[in-house]
Amino acid sequence: LTLGRRLWLLLLLAAACSGILFALYSSTVGPYPATPAGARDTMTSQAFFGSNALNFGTRKSRLCRCPLHFAIQRHPHFRRLFNLSTPVLLWGRPFTQELWDSLSQHKAPYGWQGLSHQAIASTLNLLNGSENAELFAASKELRPDCIRCAVVGNGGILNGSRQGPNIDAHDYVFRLNGAVIKDFEDDVGTRTSFYGFTVNTMKNSLISYRKLGFTSVPQRQDLHYIFIPSDIRDYVMLRSAILGVPVPEGTDKGDKPQTYFGPEASASKFKLLHPDFIRYLTERFLKSELMNTNFRDLYMPSTGALMLLTALHTCDQVSAYGFITRNYRKFSDHYFDRIKKPLIFYANHDLHLEAALWGDLHKAGIIWLYQR
Ligand SMILES: *[C@@H]1O[C@H](CO)[C@@H](O)[C@H](O)[C@H]1NC(C)=O
Ligand SMILES: *[C@@H]1O[C@H](CO)[C@@H](O)[C@H](O)[C@H]1NC(C)=O
Ligand SMILES: *[C@@H]1O[C@H](CO)[C@@H](O)[C@H](O)[C@H]1NC(C)=O
Repeated sequence: LTLGRRLWLLLLLAAACSGILFALYSSTVGPYPATPAGARDTMTSQAFFGSNALNFGTRKSRLCRCPLHFAIQRHPHFRRLFNLSTPVLLWGRPFTQELWDSLSQHKAPYGWQGLSHQAIASTLNLLNGSENAELFAASKELRPDCIRCAVVGNGGILNGSRQGPNIDAHDYVFRLNGAVIKDFEDDVGTRTSFYGFTVNTMKNSLISYRKLGFTSVPQRQDLHYIFIPSDIRDYVMLRSAILGVPVPEGTDKGDKPQTYFGPEASASKFKLLHPDFIRYLTERFLKSELMNTNFRDLYMPSTGALMLLTALHTCDQVSAYGFITRNYRKFSDHYFDRIKKPLIFYANHDLHLEAALWGDLHKAGIIWLYQR
């Protein structure tokens, strides 16, 4: 294909995208396009985004039919919230006094106020490879031009959903916390590219959901871990995991990281969310009323929200499975519950706000949200 022809096709794609979105916008009176009754709720993510990609002959030239940044640019509200240039990961290279001073102004998970300089510096110094700076393979050869991601929450909506093959068909699959797979392959798929957690949520999941099948954190050679730094524990565990030594101090003292992450966990397996990114997400997308209450210091976006928003800032297309929907009462808390359990709203997260955000992002064509 000549360059000219390819550009022409790209223009055509852009026009097709805006056409679809224009049709959606013009069908509504409210600030967001409304869902045509029943239609999109049953649609698959492939139908939503268009077929996988147009194939120009080589894998390298697979292009997205409707990359999410198109949808963001066309949306009057979300265009002002998103800054896709915000650094997502924290790694060793820019560890300067300036970074320390800047992050020391905020409490965890938004910064390092009151945390040990030594513990943080010694962790970041180990995260000094290019793999730590980027979520996806740095090599352009290995990376599809249209990065299609599935983020799999643990919501009861997935029980009996038969979405496993659709989930596995994405380029990357994100999971989090009590990500039970065994016996739920048909509903949640089998692949895991990224597993996201805080040490607190990971260990709680292993305790609370062990009897329900979450007996170990997913481990695979090509799987990467995304640490959410909500506490000094996360930095200390991460450092010990890279060094392959028991945790020397703090809440998790004596823990052997290889019991969680496997015996061959080198620095390249780990990614660390940037505290500035968590603050940006919270302020722009999940600024909860809880932040004006006594629960201020307890509140943060849920692990699922942080993973979905991470995917939105790194992938070209994002499908969300197992996330809270407006009809959450129909479903159990988790897909792996043995008996139906209502979802409980604790004051550390604002799941109502998250549900509204996922619904709005879906209506805006920025994510595809699995609903039923
Ligand atoms: C987006 O984020 C980048 C990196 O933090 C920053 O340099 C830039 O000014 C931001 N853009 C806007 C419009 O806020
Ligand atoms: C990263 O740090 C380790 C330990 O300090 C060092 O051996 C290694 O060469 C560094 N790697 C890079 C890419 O700078
Ligand atoms: C999961 O779905 C099956 C049918 O697909 C149903 O029998 C079971 O009660 C559901 N489990 C929960 C906890 O709702």
